[in-house]
Amino acid sequence: MKKPDLSVEIAGIKMRNPVMTASGTFGYGEEYSSYVDLERLGGIVTKGLSLRPKAGNPMPRIVETPGGMLNAIGLQNVGIDAFIEKKLPFLRTVNTPVIVNFFGNTEDEYAEMAERLDKIPEVSGLEMNISCPNVKQGGIAFGSRPDAAYSVVKAVRESTIKPVIVKLSPNVSDIVEMAHACADADADALSLINTLTGMAIDLKNRKPVLANVTGGFSGPAIKPIALRMVWQVARAVDIPVIGIGGITKATDALEFLLAGATAVQVGTANFITPGVTENIVRDMERYLVENRIADVKDLIGALQA
Ligand SMILES: Cc1cc2nc3c(=O)[nH]c(=O)nc-3n(C[C@H](O)[C@H](O)[C@H](O)COP(=O)(O)O)c2cc1C
Repeated sequence: MKKPDLSVEIAGIKMRNPVMTASGTFGYGEEYSSYVDLERLGGIVTKGLSLRPKAGNPMPRIVETPGGMLNAIGLQNVGIDAFIEKKLPFLRTVNTPVIVNFFGNTEDEYAEMAERLDKIPEVSGLEMNISCPNVKQGGIAFGSRPDAAYSVVKAVRESTIKPVIVKLSPNVSDIVEMAHACADADADALSLINTLTGMAIDLKNRKPVLANVTGGFSGPAIKPIALRMVWQVARAVDIPVIGIGGITKATDALEFLLAGATAVQVGTANFITPGVTENIVRDMERYLVENRIADVKDLIGALQA
């Protein structure tokens, strides 16, 4: 059998395979370049950027839990100016689509970020993290109210001609309603899920383990929730879905494709095995060969439910 076709396309972004990195777990790409051949990946999603640099939350801000981890990094990042000056020159040398994850505290900040990113030719797409607090609306996350999500996605949509991917939070009562709001605002694609809010307690001190008290839960333990949400959303909207949550191996990624995802992102697993994304690509190709599947796209949404 000739080599299977692993290529997929999301909103005009052509990827050699469906395996991308998840924001915040792969730095700005260069940090992992000695572990992973970045040109074997489908796409690189960078750490979430804001207009100004952000120091993040006080320590401790990471804790391991059974089947996963909690993080309260607090969206620490170098800011868009330093990204352009210090991180982009490396990314420019890599022949793989770069998707920049970003956020703001107000709708205007989101729109300004989109306008700035729109001008960078090396950026193939924008991924909006809408899980952060909307300072103008009393700190409720943009991603937890459909009307707020619609409005911020619309503002970004009008600020860029690049593909806009909206990253959904699982910390909502109805993820399908949120997906519809983003699709109605003309998002090109959705990625899900971001982390689930959790906490860890130190019994001896009777204190929260994280200085921030709560944190975002990620890793293998969240995979069943992520699969369920991807399945629900992919059936409900006409735009492509990127599946994220607890992927550590090729078979996990393939399950997301069956659930309706066109591509996947790998997050926490990068901390355990820095070369995991490349292994997933290799094993995905092997799976297709062994099962005589000529095109990975034949698996997208092929779940028999
Ligand atoms: C340490 C850490 C930092 C993260 N930073 C971001 C971020 O800046 N922006 C974002 O949208 N998601 C961020 N995430 C969420 C991941 O991209 C991903 O959605 C989540 O971890 C679930 O996938 P996983 O189970 O494969 O890790 C972060 C996750 C972790 C663990």
